[in-house]
Amino acid sequence: MKFFLDTADLKEIEEAASWGCLAGVTTNPSLYAKIGGKLSDFENHIKRICDIVGPDCPVSAESVAMTRDEIIADGRRLAKIAPNVVVKIPTMVEGLAATKVLASEGIPVNMTLCFSVPQAILAARAGARYISPFIGRFDDISEDGLDQVENIVAAISNYDFSDATCNHEQVEIIAASVRSANHVTQCALMGADIATVPFPVLKKLVQHPLTDRGLESFMADWEKVKNA
Ligand code: E4P
Repeated sequence: MKFFLDTADLKEIEEAASWGCLAGVTTNPSLYAKIGGKLSDFENHIKRICDIVGPDCPVSAESVAMTRDEIIADGRRLAKIAPNVVVKIPTMVEGLAATKVLASEGIPVNMTLCFSVPQAILAARAGARYISPFIGRFDDISEDGLDQVENIVAAISNYDFSDATCNHEQVEIIAASVRSANHVTQCALMGADIATVPFPVLKKLVQHPLTDRGLESFMADWEKVKNA
């Protein structure tokens, strides 16, 4: 499983990138609004993220257009920001149609707001390079988001979609709307390719009380060795 960071916050991205295990970043309009982002600075901001993570890390930037042609125009504009930009497009009819065109032009698409197996298969067939099923938002309505991710991973792995995606790469599933370490554990066990996690969750993933306790006792014993 690869780890993406789900944020538009440059400090969080810088810090996570310095840990050496960051493979990408996903943003969305709400995350950009959360950091006080301005429309006029949006493209610069995405460029800054791309520069921090480097060319091998995909950075998802979301289109907020609602018609096929506007989404295509948005996608072409966003893709010009940097070679590692991935255009994030909602899973809806206009989004599928735009994805088909963008994928045929070699522009990678992350289909977002995906909540079902049929949506995921349609996204893959349209040529999405990534599909983002949301977990936490299912949990918010008292349904099990992990079940949906498991079903989507299993269904997608039944078929070869590499003829549909740009550059003929296989579609990858990004477990999104991740709220806890347990979400990440379960997604890893079911074989999700990627988890995109908020920074506070990423920090928790590194921690374990037994690691802290073990470290404490090793340090204390080493003091004894030094004083022996
Ligand atoms: C995915 O790419 C989205 O940005 C994100 O995971 C949404 O998460 P939320 O439901 O916590 O807003």
